[in-house]
Amino acid sequence: MGFFKPLFLWNTKLNYDDTTLVNSFLDDSGKFLFYQMSRFDQHHAIAVARSIIAEVKDPTVIDYKTLMVSALLHDIGKVEGDFNFFSRILVGLIKRIAPNLRGKLAFTNPNTFWEKVRYGFYVDLIHPLRGAHMAKVFGIDAAVVEMIRHHHDPPRQDQTIELTMLQKADNKN
Ligand SMILES: [Fe+2]
Ligand SMILES: [Fe+2]
Repeated sequence: MGFFKPLFLWNTKLNYDDTTLVNSFLDDSGKFLFYQMSRFDQHHAIAVARSIIAEVKDPTVIDYKTLMVSALLHDIGKVEGDFNFFSRILVGLIKRIAPNLRGKLAFTNPNTFWEKVRYGFYVDLIHPLRGAHMAKVFGIDAAVVEMIRHHHDPPRQDQTIELTMLQKADNKN
């Protein structure tokens, strides 16, 4: 499962190809937002971007730039330190096997270890809205802000092809 792959990259540095990819799509604000994520989320975002690159046959028929910037920034609402190793695994599993439990487990003011784990569920639920807000404040393109805001919404008939592609790539990685 793609979800487990980044766990092996928990704290490894990005390599030259990774930073080249980041530099080719993000401006200074985008880079700031990208690098404030934990390395885990940086690796995940890069994996999502790469799987979109592999998927897109003709970049001229879609808004490729919006899609790639969104791929790199979609999870910026997960700020470094929001998750510990245990909550990362637990949130990932519950999200897949019992997503409705997240609301019950979410906790906003953590003190104990278990509360800090539960804070991860809170972040998991709010990160699209928080990320969209952060992107907007930093002057990121409005189309990208909307992609971030809606990247975990249930698929809708009238959504953009770019959002559908982002959701597919995100689910695979
Ligand atoms: Fe996300
Ligand atoms: Fe994601």
